[in-house]
Amino acid sequence: MNLAPASTKAWHRKHLLGIEELTREECAAILDTADSFSEISSRSRKKVPALQGRVVFNLFFENSTRTRTSFSLAAKRLSADTQDFSAATSSLSKGESFIDTAKNIEAMGADVLVVRHSTPGAPHLLAQHVKASIINAGDGAHEHPTQALLDLLTIRRAKGKIEGLTVGLVGDIAHSRVARSNIHALNKFGAHVIVCGPPTLVPRSMERLGCEVAHHLDDVLPRLDVVNALRIQFERIHKGFIPFPSVSEYLHFYGMTIERMRVAKPDLLILAPGPINRGVELTPEVADGPNSAILDQVTNGLAVRMAVLYLLSGRTHPHPHEHEAHAAGIKPGRTAEHHAE
Ligand code: CP
Repeated sequence: MNLAPASTKAWHRKHLLGIEELTREECAAILDTADSFSEISSRSRKKVPALQGRVVFNLFFENSTRTRTSFSLAAKRLSADTQDFSAATSSLSKGESFIDTAKNIEAMGADVLVVRHSTPGAPHLLAQHVKASIINAGDGAHEHPTQALLDLLTIRRAKGKIEGLTVGLVGDIAHSRVARSNIHALNKFGAHVIVCGPPTLVPRSMERLGCEVAHHLDDVLPRLDVVNALRIQFERIHKGFIPFPSVSEYLHFYGMTIERMRVAKPDLLILAPGPINRGVELTPEVADGPNSAILDQVTNGLAVRMAVLYLLSGRTHPHPHEHEAHAAGIKPGRTAEHHAE
């Protein structure tokens, strides 16, 4: 089985900081590699030695369930050593800076730092100060590149294509890094993007990113092939700013309900990045219903993160201790197929 698609030749980057700067070919290289790696997760022995000897550190300064655990598991499936860093119990509380923290982690031999931070641009800052590869796992309301890539992969698998589809990003666009990364990704692949939500949460400036802006979901719903129901980011909404009168009104105007599913295309694909607020962005009947691919997104996220780790650290950038890989029976420059057991 070919685990290294030809499109990986498009990948030459050391870091994954955002979707905006990637080409369509680079995004496709990640998706194609993820397709190849999905097969590993269906094996009884879910492990290949591709990143043996590499060290992947998760530096999460914000909470996470899906992203952190799937990066950890992805690294383990590729035989890398992984370590989680807990900001809450770290020496940040004693005044150590963000950059010093990362440099100290790197001094332990980290090859890849997976970084989530509430400040937009924090991973970009680290990329200028450390030698390790940096993966942006979400920086404030700026970008969440692996989320957009797993969303693309889920759409491509469900619909067989991305080009020509109309995708609705519904909800809190203003505070959403998922929205920004999705807009960049979907534009590159030729989808039409409609951002829809209350005017308080959908800035008109989104039109400059090449999207259609709508405030009435019922008007645009029949045109949509995919709805990505974005979470209301209550934690990013400033105290005193009330974006809608009540949760029940939000559900009434923007929530994906069984009633709305009846006027949507029968094969409408329902996505949500998670965590979901049941009864706010979508009802349980829709979240758990036949059109929902929400858990497929999580499964695909593991394959995407394996692909990103592999492309960043396993193939295109020879490791300084490559002789160790030789000792482990892995030849540098060989493909994932050769690394697969
Ligand atoms: N979608 C997402 O990023 O989820 P987590 O915050 O749980 O990682």
